[in-house]
Order: sequence, then structure tokens, then C-alpha cells
Amino acid sequence: MVFSHGIRTLGVLGAGQMGLGIAYVAAVKAKVPVLLYDRSEVQLKKGMAFMDKLLTKDVSKGKLSEVDAKDAKDRVTVIATERGIKGFGEVDMVVEAASENVDIKTSLFRTLAAELRQDVILATNTSSISITKIAAAAIPDGIAPTSAEGKASASRVVGLHFFNPVPVMKLVELIPSLQTSQNTLDKARAFALACEKEVTVSQDVPGFVSNALLMPFINEAIMCLEKGTATRDDIDKTLRLGMNHPMGPLQLADFIGLDTCLAIQQTLFQGTGDSKYRPSVLLERMVDAQWLGKKNGKGFYEYDTTS
Ligand code: 3HC
Repeated sequence: MVFSHGIRTLGVLGAGQMGLGIAYVAAVKAKVPVLLYDRSEVQLKKGMAFMDKLLTKDVSKGKLSEVDAKDAKDRVTVIATERGIKGFGEVDMVVEAASENVDIKTSLFRTLAAELRQDVILATNTSSISITKIAAAAIPDGIAPTSAEGKASASRVVGLHFFNPVPVMKLVELIPSLQTSQNTLDKARAFALACEKEVTVSQDVPGFVSNALLMPFINEAIMCLEKGTATRDDIDKTLRLGMNHPMGPLQLADFIGLDTCLAIQQTLFQGTGDSKYRPSVLLERMVDAQWLGKKNGKGFYEYDTTS
């Protein structure tokens, strides 16, 4: 079946909370067959179990019929870890949702460019890293970035930034790099719309619009706690009840992942040199301690990781 966005099969790289959410909206909302890959088999199993849980909940709430839930589940195929990125085969688009680390992402895009057809759209769900740098990594070795082949290779890379939890949050940020073609942008936008998301466009600056605004806010809340301006609960309550935020900033930091918040803040600070983005020492120490937030049970709050 051919969809208006032209994506007959989607590859999702990374089965963590973001990748899984993207696979979910692609299968349930856009109704696109999905190939899901993660280098960790444990993560893949965990991701698919979470997908089952979401679909079961949707059925029990009457949001999906049992048939639609089964069809959605059948649309998602897990690629065996040993097959690697080669397992994406004939996909028309890949959305990468690996860890927020520039070396990991550039290395993955180098491999994607080497393994997949020239016309496959390569989208990254990075929260803050330069799309332009990732696009440059998608040019095969030995090809000049300014040659026709080099330009074509980089032109299919685009930022497609989803928000957590992906099935719930209505936004996708679309970020063109210096090299992105109009065709790539159009297809990526059409795909996001098919996932029933609203789209905003941001230039390729560190953190784009969303995290350039959100991360200093979260960091300032952590500094309030560090300085003893208020307790954890009062900081969060102030924002929840005073500003109607669904979560306070400390709870939100736990929800995003403290390692991810730190990685984004480091990218913002390094990319701009602006001291307003310097990560708080408390955040750094919590990540040193491997207190990563909701995902591993301990952040500013404690969480049950058994359910
Ligand atoms: N996955 C899928 N669905 C989820 C979910 C998850 N992880 N967590 C909650 N939900 C669903 C629930 O099932 C429920 O669905 P329903 O309406 O069908 O019943 C709905 O969300 C509401 O959940 P709850 O009633 O359990 O709880 P809340 O009303 O407290 O909502 C929340 C939970 C939606 C997470 C809400 O607290 C919220 O919006 N928090 C802010 C989230 C936010 O700001 N996200 C953006 C983070 S920044 C980011 O992602 C960018 C990155 O680059 C850092």
C-alpha cells in the first residue's frame, strides 16, 4: 500500500521510550508497517512488552477495537539484533531514536548511509544535536560533501523531534539542516501529520526551539533546589498549581531522564558558549551517581521499576 507521504515501510532505530513511542504512532495512527531495531535484545523485548501494554489499554478504554490493535501490533516487526541495520532492507524512511550522543548518532548515520538506498529519508529524533553535522556524517567515505552525490546523500537527512510520551504529546518539531532538500522536508512533515501530530519548524540551532527554552527552565529549578530556595515538592507544586504545568520541572526532568537532560544542556552550553545553559552541579552529580530518573527508579523522586 502507498501512503500520501510515500512511506511504505518505516524503520525505527532504537526501542527506548522515544523509539517505541514513534513505532507506536506510526503503526497505530499512520498505519505504516514498522521495522524496529535496537542493538539490545533486552531493550527490544522491553519495548514490545510496553507496546502490548499500550495497545491493551487503548482497547480497554475503547480507543481502539481489538481488530485495529491486532493490526497495529502485526505492523511492527522486530529485527533480530544480529542482523544490524542491514535488517532495515527496503524501508523508505528511518527515524533514529538512539542515545543523545553525537558520536553514536554520527556513527549510526554513517552506517545508514552505507547500507540503505540513496532515496531513503533519514530522520533523527535528536533533542539538541546539530542536524547539519549528522547530515554530513551521512555522506559515504571518499565522496566530497560539495559533489552532486555528497549533496544528495546529505539532503535526505532531517530532524524530526518527537516529545515524550510520544503517543500523548501532540507536537513534532521539524528541523531542516543546511543540506536538507525540500522533498525530504515535505515527506517528513507528511509522515508527522499522518501520525496525527502538529508540526512546528525550527532552525538548526542547539536545542532547537523546544529545548533551548525547556532546558534552562529545568536547570533553574534544579539550581533552586541546590541553593535551598525551596523544597523539591514546593518547587514542583509552584509550577503545577501556579502555572498549570502538568508536571513540575523536577518531575519532568526525571521523566525525560537526567542523563538526557544533562546531555542536552551540555550541547546547549558547548554550542552557544552562553553561561545561561551551564548545567547545574547537582544535575551532574546525580548523573555521576547513575540516578537517571524514572527509567531506573531514582531521580529527584523514587519510582517503582518492577511494573
Ligand atoms: N506512554 C503512553 N501513554 C502514556 C504514558 C506513556 N509513557 N504516560 C501516560 N500516558 C497516557 C495515559 O495512558 C493516559 O491516557 P488516556 O488519556 O488514554 O487515559 C494519559 O497519558 C494521561 O495519563 P495519566 O492520567 O496517567 O497521567 P497524567 O494526566 O498525569 O498525564 C502526562 C501524564 C501525559 C505524562 C502529563 O503529566 C504530561 O503531559 N506531562 C508533561 C510531559 C511533557 O512535558 N513532555 C515533554 C517532555 S520534553 C521532550 O520530550 C523533548 C525531549 O527532547 C527532552
